[in-house]
Amino acid sequence: MNKKTVFSALLTISLVFGATAALMAKTPPPPANQYLGIYDAKFPSFTKDDCLVCHISDEVLVPIHHALINTKNMMCLDCHTMIPDGTGGFVFDDFRTCSKCHTASPHHTSAKAVALDCQACHGSFIDNPQDGHYVPTYPVSSVTPMPSGRAVTDPLGNVVTVQGCEACHQPDATAIDPNTNTTRAIFSNKDTHHGTGIQNCNLCHDFNKADIRQCEACHGVKSLHNIQKKSTANATIVPGAEELGYGHVGNNWDCQGCHWSWYGNSTNTMTSAVVPSLTGQSSYTLTAGKTNALTLTGSAFTNVDANGASYNPTVLITSATTSLTLTPNSTTDSEIQVTVPALLPGIYNMQVAKTGVKSNLAKVTVVPELAIKAAALAAKSTVTITGTGFGPKPPAEYKSGLGVFVGTTAAKIVSWSDTKIVASSLQFKAEEMIALKTINGAVSKQITAVVKKTR
Ligand code: HEC
Ligand code: HEC
Ligand code: HEC
Ligand code: HEC
Ligand code: HEC
Ligand code: HEC
Ligand code: HEC
Ligand code: HEC
Repeated sequence: MNKKTVFSALLTISLVFGATAALMAKTPPPPANQYLGIYDAKFPSFTKDDCLVCHISDEVLVPIHHALINTKNMMCLDCHTMIPDGTGGFVFDDFRTCSKCHTASPHHTSAKAVALDCQACHGSFIDNPQDGHYVPTYPVSSVTPMPSGRAVTDPLGNVVTVQGCEACHQPDATAIDPNTNTTRAIFSNKDTHHGTGIQNCNLCHDFNKADIRQCEACHGVKSLHNIQKKSTANATIVPGAEELGYGHVGNNWDCQGCHWSWYGNSTNTMTSAVVPSLTGQSSYTLTAGKTNALTLTGSAFTNVDANGASYNPTVLITSATTSLTLTPNSTTDSEIQVTVPALLPGIYNMQVAKTGVKSNLAKVTVVPELAIKAAALAAKSTVTITGTGFGPKPPAEYKSGLGVFVGTTAAKIVSWSDTKIVASSLQFKAEEMIALKTINGAVSKQITAVVKKTR
């Protein structure tokens, strides 16, 4: 059976049965597009950019890893492996690609995952298993979706998959990632789910039954019918009035993909807030103690429901001690501009929320303001740097990449506090630029000459 042949044959059928051509999107699934939620892939194929959404930046990650030297007694060469360069010498093996060392998903053994709080990271794209959400108990019928679907022959003689997730969610090795416009494979539903390493088969399967009810442990009626991306049809998401193929409730065709009922009706009264998807932010680090402007990008930030009521987002910023609900200054379907009030330094969770639903998780780090007020040359090639936010002194035992530099040459640190650093280097000269690299970021400043004392 050729599953790759398109479900758009269903579209053909729809057309035969009188649907209008105006419903046609440029790329109807399969495969489903990749604007919402996590890219449908397996852990090792995730890129560093995917990881940085929640793990912030190299400035944060270098010290996080190097802290393990002290806390877990790790050696440099545990992580920085040397490999032959082919000419008898050695070079460092790649130490920047996350999946080089983290070969299996670390998230699905985390405390939240073990407690079955999958929404903590996945937001409202799914329901939490065992939280008591509604799953039908009436007998399955001719319009009940199936986990994969079933094969039918369309009027053109093609075998296509209908009435299940695989009508749209199929693997595609040559898919284009819409966020980067590069080729990036989409994996099968089996691969994406098994790739989590979750060992409890019964969480997702009831091997005594072939129906979809066990999938509903996470893909309940509520979450499934609130997944939608805006098409070009409207300025905000309007269930039933979108072009086909952009989600689950945009178009009669979408209903048919799962239910394949010729009586499918896109007047979906259940739909309330469509789940927002957060994919980018103008900055992953904010300055502590002052208000910051932040621009968030993603999908489904606004929508209307079947009764015409509008749903607009708020931005949630939370930590163990903080819980802020911010109203954006402006919102479109794909962009939110928000002013974040002054916060204390730390790492915060960030999600976009609409009534009853939350986006996937992202993170933002608030760092003390890093600024050099002056870098003044003193005697014996010594410079005194004053300012704020210098953070803790970099460890002396190993090269952390942090410190005071002229070009690529590191200076010797004489003393280091949050507001004052004394460093020495033969390279220090008046008018020379110094670069200060701290755990709060990097900043540079021109060295000023010794101020001649006047009597
Ligand atoms: C700590 C955050 C976190 C928690 C909690 C979490 N996940 Fe995930 N999940 C991720 C991340 C990050 C990815 C992508 C990278 C990876 O696989 O680790 C992912 C990927 C997935 C995927 C593959 C999705 C795709 O499109 O490729 C599935 C399925 C999944 N998780 C299921 C679950 C289930 C079930 C739970 C609850 C038992 C859960 N997750 C809890 C962070 C989390
Ligand atoms: C959706 C947000 C999210 C994304 C994306 C994400 N992570 Fe995480 N990750 C988390 C959270 C939250 C934790 C802390 C889990 C906990 O301890 O509850 C975590 C923990 C980890 C840990 C430590 C696990 C442990 O044992 O403490 C590693 C390693 C890690 N992530 C690597 C990665 C890599 C590599 C990627 C990219 C493939 C990635 N993460 C993408 C949210 C994310
Ligand atoms: C637990 C693993 C781990 C250990 C142990 C470790 N490193 Fe690293 N190191 C990393 C990772 C991962 C990166 C790159 C992180 C990134 O790109 O965000 C890195 C980056 C670096 C860099 C580049 C600095 C920069 O700012 O990008 C240097 C230099 C370095 N390490 C040296 C060392 C030395 C020397 C030791 C031993 C004293 C050591 N590391 C121990 C994981 C480790
Ligand atoms: C050179 C190997 C290497 C690379 C590359 C690497 N890591 Fe790690 N990472 C490690 C090791 C080793 C640990 C410690 C694992 C443990 O404690 O069991 C670790 C731990 C972590 C932790 C948990 C830190 C803690 O305090 O427990 C996070 C989060 C993390 N890595 C994220 C990342 C992300 C994101 C990337 C990509 C930017 C990355 N790592 C790249 C080797 C690496
Ligand atoms: C009519 C086609 C169609 C069918 C059938 C379908 N989906 Fe989707 N689904 C989509 C589209 C389109 C998106 C939006 C993809 C994007 O842009 O990220 C989507 C997104 C999703 C998402 C959120 C994004 C992600 O990749 O995780 C989940 C979860 C999901 N679908 C689950 C299911 C499940 C479970 C089934 C089977 C019960 C199913 N879908 C059947 C078209 C479909
Ligand atoms: C996080 C959810 C999840 C977990 C946990 C999980 N699976 Fe699956 N599995 C799926 C999905 C999704 C599919 C694809 C849809 C389908 O075929 O039902 C699948 C498919 C399968 C298939 C059909 C394979 C095929 O080629 O048609 C088998 C057999 C299977 N899983 C066995 C297992 C076993 C055994 C375990 C435990 C070790 C397990 N699964 C754990 C989600 C899961
Ligand atoms: C224990 C929770 C859980 C169960 C049960 C579960 N899934 Fe999922 N599923 C997820 C998560 C988490 C995602 C990823 C959502 C995101 O993008 O953040 C997902 C995503 C999907 C998607 C969208 C494509 C993708 O890979 O992201 C499809 C299709 C899907 N699941 C089908 C199934 C089928 C079929 C079953 C039953 C065999 C099933 N799921 C059972 C948690 C679950
Ligand atoms: C992603 C797959 C998917 C799509 C797309 C989808 N549905 Fe459903 N729908 C389901 C599943 C799964 C159930 C639960 C079936 C069961 O367990 O009997 C369901 C149940 C329903 C129910 C019964 C709800 C109840 O209270 O028991 C109605 C009505 C319904 N869908 C209508 C629609 C309409 C209208 C559309 C299009 C706007 C649509 N569906 C699109 C998967 C989907």
